[in-house]
Amino acid sequence: MLPALPCYLNGEYTLLPDAKISVMDRGFIFGDGIYEVVPVYGRCLFRFEQHMARLERSLAELRIPNPHTRAQWRQIAERLVAEHARQTDADPEKMEQMVYIQVSRGVALRDHAMLPGLTPTVFVMTNVMKLPAPALREQGVACVTADEFRWQKAHIKSTSLLGAVMARDISAQVGASETLLFREGFLSEGASSNVWIVQDGKVLGPPRDHLVLEGIRYGLLEEICNMHDIGFELRPIARAEVLAADEVLLSSATKEILPVTRIDDQPVGQGQPGPVYAQLYAGYQAAKLQARLRRQY
Ligand code: PDD
Repeated sequence: MLPALPCYLNGEYTLLPDAKISVMDRGFIFGDGIYEVVPVYGRCLFRFEQHMARLERSLAELRIPNPHTRAQWRQIAERLVAEHARQTDADPEKMEQMVYIQVSRGVALRDHAMLPGLTPTVFVMTNVMKLPAPALREQGVACVTADEFRWQKAHIKSTSLLGAVMARDISAQVGASETLLFREGFLSEGASSNVWIVQDGKVLGPPRDHLVLEGIRYGLLEEICNMHDIGFELRPIARAEVLAADEVLLSSATKEILPVTRIDDQPVGQGQPGPVYAQLYAGYQAAKLQARLRRQY
């Protein structure tokens, strides 16, 4: 039985166990939809505008009309966040939540063509965000590598996630935290996170292109690096560079920024979280605090 968490489905505020969609929803039949995961700190939707910009890009790629304005999306998300906070005993100012937004093309008889004129299915839910435990931050996490076998449109935040599920399973099977994917010998990303390396004090990440999902943390990490005079460069990164890196990091809405200390059972650098990670993590926490202080929702 699903927990009675608040959610929004096609104009109605309801609870997860009561939210129902048609079996002919193209999100169910084809994975024909897009999604966003927005972190929420003390009721502040972190980097919401950037998440909205990516949602708009993903919808445009699939020619699904955007059913809401940014102001309407914000209103729905804030109402669910407030409702969820009311349901719990936790202090809402200290709560860490996440908002999940999904839009599918809508309901129709099965046809591969991108049928125009359908009413998109809109689903939004919120839950507690489970950030990595402090022990994982102190020790770092283990990852494994695999050859990229997903498609060539990784920049779309699509709900067609079978490739991501299968990629994640490779690490899950051996008790590791993430699978680092390499396309023809070059780093793309993790199953559900972006991957960064530190080389001679500089942060390097794969280019913003169709082979990776440009995480909202791409822009954030660049800002933090600029603020702290840390070099930041996006360029193709060879597998050998990842394995020889001083530090390797993961980033995502739910991982924030996380150190990788083992890859394929070999230590990364000194086998401990490094100094650049510590600076970036502190910068990330400062950005969260600032957003809340400014109520920069
Ligand atoms: N995943 N790359 C992939 C393939 C992802 O699925 C994600 C996020 C990222 C990081 O993007 P961001 O920094 O905007 O969270 C990169 C989310 C968290 C998920 O699917 O749950």
